[in-house]
Amino acid sequence: MLRIAIPKESYENETRVAALPQTVKQYCNLGVDVSVERGLGQSVSISDAEYQAAGAKIVSSYEQLASNSDVILQVRAPNAEQIAKFRKDTKLISFLDPFRQTELLSTLAKHNITAMSMEMIPRITRAQKMDALSSQTNLGGYVAVILAAEYSQKAFPMMMTAAGTINPVRVFVIGVGVAGLQAIATAKRLGARVEAFDTRPVVAEQVKSLGAKFVEIDLGETSETKGGYATALTPEQVAKQQQAMIAVCAKSDVVITTAQVFGKPAPKLVNQEMVAAMQPGSVIIDMAIETGGNVDGSVLHEVVDKNGVSILGFANLPGRVALHASQVYANNLYNLFAEYWNKEQQSFNLNLDDEILQACVVAHAGNVLFAMK
Ligand code: NAI
Repeated sequence: MLRIAIPKESYENETRVAALPQTVKQYCNLGVDVSVERGLGQSVSISDAEYQAAGAKIVSSYEQLASNSDVILQVRAPNAEQIAKFRKDTKLISFLDPFRQTELLSTLAKHNITAMSMEMIPRITRAQKMDALSSQTNLGGYVAVILAAEYSQKAFPMMMTAAGTINPVRVFVIGVGVAGLQAIATAKRLGARVEAFDTRPVVAEQVKSLGAKFVEIDLGETSETKGGYATALTPEQVAKQQQAMIAVCAKSDVVITTAQVFGKPAPKLVNQEMVAAMQPGSVIIDMAIETGGNVDGSVLHEVVDKNGVSILGFANLPGRVALHASQVYANNLYNLFAEYWNKEQQSFNLNLDDEILQACVVAHAGNVLFAMK
């Protein structure tokens, strides 16, 4: 019987988990043996008894789990010490941050682990149900707005009361991919006036359809990859973009930045001049902080005060709604597993010629495969 293990996360402050009881049940229905580490669900208020009732065995330590499993499911990568406990040929499915974690990939290859990186799931129709970047960043966009509302000195909606009229806050969203679209939708639901900008012109229609205004900036030619990701701008284009955004930032109470260029450090878009142009009491949420940040002066895990403007550099925004983030992430993992599970043969078949596996398997049979992607 194939053995799947879901250990507790060892990554600092990670609150998400790779399986909920309902997903454990789904794996069991496939005919798979499931074990989870004791206390797995603590951060999402799920007890061991609930995992047990769903069909999981409870195991006391990471080592015990790792050394007795065929497939290990995680949110974040295990460390080298943990990987050393894996059986040869174990399959690991997790976020692995492959562009930056080259040493991790070598360690996985050295131990003959087949590692599947959730960041590398391609944006093709068949893989949409496995797209964990989207499922997580969508919730991140929601959390960014909730945080902004918490740190703002203003209420979001317009209110006409006997005590006077309160104007709606103005929110500026920079970067309108999955996170940006959700941030716009959430800010609109709270009653804000929303403007947004992205270098991909196709986004303008989507922004308008959410009831927000698309800020027109003529940057000349911009492009996107086959998978829909933005390509990097030239330094001249960035300067032009910044110049045009100063005026928008100056009248915004909240700026949310989500701009990313896949596989590269985040572009620095909000400079000191733009921050200085904002009113004291305004809030900037730098959602790109984990890849270097979009905002000059944002600091990871901190709230920086720049002349009364709060710049939030919080990492792992989806982890602030850990139960729902875990639910959709666990579904992504299950969908990936089920795609390659052969029920008749009761085997997990990985044919590396498959388009999805070609993209997401980053280590296999002693080799790092990532450099070739
Ligand atoms: P992302 O996280 O890589 O980047 C976020 C946004 O930042 C993107 O919209 C990008 O264009 C923008 N950006 C980059 N440089 C910028 C700059 N200098 N100024 C302003 N904005 C900048 O992107 P994400 O959220 O992963 O989505 C990328 C695209 O892929 C979107 O069009 C999305 O709708 C599409 N997508 C397609 C899927 C599918 O077909 N299965 C699934 C998920 C997303």
